[in-house]
Amino acid sequence: MGRFVALLVLWGCSLSCCSYVQLRKYYYINQNMSWGDAREYCRTHYTDLATIESDNDINGLQSGFSYEKAWIGLWDDPSSWKWSLGSHPNSWRWSSIGEPGRTSYSGFIYDDPNAQGAREYCAVMMEEGGWYDISCERNHSFVCYTASNGSGKVFHHVNTIKSWYSAQEYCRSHYTDLATIENAMENDMIFNDTQRLYFWIGLSRVPWTWSNRSPVSFTNWQTGQPDNQNSTQFCAAELSDHKWTDEDCSTRMVFICHKTMMSKTVVKMQIKASADLTDPTVNAKVLQQLRTKLTNQGLTNVVLRWRSPPTKQKKP
Ligand SMILES: *[C@@H]1O[C@H](CO)[C@@H](O)[C@H](O)[C@H]1NC(C)=O
Ligand SMILES: *[C@@H]1O[C@H](CO)[C@@H](O)[C@H](O)[C@H]1NC(C)=O
Ligand SMILES: *[C@@H]1O[C@H](CO)[C@@H](O)[C@H](O)[C@H]1NC(C)=O
Ligand SMILES: *[C@@H]1O[C@H](CO)[C@@H](O)[C@H](O)[C@H]1NC(C)=O
Ligand SMILES: *[C@@H]1O[C@H](CO)[C@@H](O)[C@H](O)[C@H]1NC(C)=O
Repeated sequence: MGRFVALLVLWGCSLSCCSYVQLRKYYYINQNMSWGDAREYCRTHYTDLATIESDNDINGLQSGFSYEKAWIGLWDDPSSWKWSLGSHPNSWRWSSIGEPGRTSYSGFIYDDPNAQGAREYCAVMMEEGGWYDISCERNHSFVCYTASNGSGKVFHHVNTIKSWYSAQEYCRSHYTDLATIENAMENDMIFNDTQRLYFWIGLSRVPWTWSNRSPVSFTNWQTGQPDNQNSTQFCAAELSDHKWTDEDCSTRMVFICHKTMMSKTVVKMQIKASADLTDPTVNAKVLQQLRTKLTNQGLTNVVLRWRSPPTKQKKP
């Protein structure tokens, strides 16, 4: 009997419709504050500075509010990447380990990294062996390495120009990976050997996270934004049409908080069965099997109920 019901569930149900109930409620706060103070205020009185992750969220924002710009919870926190390699989602990572700096060694020099133009998320080595952040799309020669047993790394300068990601692909298929540099001696070794300017090393980073450091999958930037004007714009604000722009985090402006509400997804199903669903035993087993199937697919807290309980239908 159990097996029979399982088959019924697999063959007999069709997904007819589903609807999504909004996750967050937004609150416009008419006080001028820096991004950091606004976040503090939102965390005290609501959940956080506004996280906006879909067109559905945007539809939940107020319209016709009379402000020029309002802070939202998106930032590219310089403390996670500017003064050290760091260990936050926006920090620099070595391609070989896919993780933020395993050692604290950093070869960035002068004012770099600075995310100039909000475009520079990959690192090159240049004069004096110093590192700079530049756009990952640019084409340069690069240094790969082979992990070797005991006697340290062996570095290989590849004299072909590629973007950072193509260089990474090349190094991964011919050697171990793009160069991972963990101390000044390795840095010198590479620089002494190549004596060139501008070549990729294995360091890159992903910009922007939400206030709670959750990753960004949806964006709604205004055309031409973000631009990190003067290399001082690391916090995001929405304009009155809900498009985003990057601004200096210390600017005082009004802001939007959100409160997280219960999320609910409603899925309507139609079940066709040749068994007698009006029989309470069969009926309970169908629901039980369906619940197990949904749980196995990673859906938790599933509540299942009949919209109207099955009733006996007259044979045509
Ligand atoms: C916030 O600053 C703007 C621009 O300086 C100003 O027009 C507005 O009146 C200020 N709002 C409040 C509530 O102080
Ligand atoms: C890099 O080279 C590729 C392939 O030759 C080319 O399509 C691309 O436009 C170049 N990128 C830049 C920024 O010049
Ligand atoms: C590392 O070195 C040891 C001893 O020289 C050798 O037995 C081993 O196979 C080497 N491992 C790799 C991955 O090269
Ligand atoms: C690199 O070159 C400099 C200057 O020629 C030299 O002093 C240094 O020892 C070299 N370092 C390495 C690791 O080869
Ligand atoms: C950029 O810097 C210039 C010169 O210091 C200044 O006049 C301008 O207001 C700055 N722009 C922003 C957006 O900070």
